[in-house]
Amino acid sequence: MPDYNQRIVAPSLLAADWTQLGAECARALDAGADWLHLDVMDGHFVDNISYGPSFIKHVRRAAPNAFLDAHLMIERPDHYLERFVDAGVDNITVHVEPDYDVAGTLARTREAGVSAGLAINPATPLDDAGPYLGDIDLLLVMTVVPGFGGQSFMEEETMPKVTAARALREERGLGFHIEVDGGVDPETAPVAAAAGANVLVAGTSAFKAPDMAAAVAQLRDA
Ligand code: DX5
Ligand code: ZN
Repeated sequence: MPDYNQRIVAPSLLAADWTQLGAECARALDAGADWLHLDVMDGHFVDNISYGPSFIKHVRRAAPNAFLDAHLMIERPDHYLERFVDAGVDNITVHVEPDYDVAGTLARTREAGVSAGLAINPATPLDDAGPYLGDIDLLLVMTVVPGFGGQSFMEEETMPKVTAARALREERGLGFHIEVDGGVDPETAPVAAAAGANVLVAGTSAFKAPDMAAAVAQLRDA
């Protein structure tokens, strides 16, 4: 079983300079990034459109050995799943909120040899993820309303869920990473880590930092 206390820093390419995609992937990895986080938005589940499988194929070519953590903010992850698997990602996180077969999609993800994540929005209770906690490799507790980078970390709404998820994991002897995403920076990272999150997604605070290596190190040591 992985060490769920091991800190993993995952810069989000949403905040990168896409005219320099390959160089930006290398910059993040050279700065000490453990994973690259890929925010996929469909303009339906969230009020923004980002990129899809063909963009991710370019990321995979640019960073052949990186762990690619795909976060699907889309209405029909079940319909698009295979295309993201084929694009070469290592983890696929789907949201619990849309109306589709969540359990079946998580199972198909694992059958494809890909790690399976489940995400909950700030307004979604942890209970909604409860039935699936035995069948996931990662729980993503969104710390902003998804759709855009650069928003503020929603501590009161989300940290109790991180604390409760960690406690449930212990009680039930389960195994999943706890990831936070949105507004994570050197000030909020220690709050998330203290609550029990071990995977820290950082868009703005990583890619827009004057010194990305220093920013990643600060998040890791938070
Ligand atoms: C929110 C995305 C996040 C976001 C993080 O819609 O899922 O990954 O881009 O960006 P920052 O770190 O700038 O809040
Ligand atoms: Zn994300």
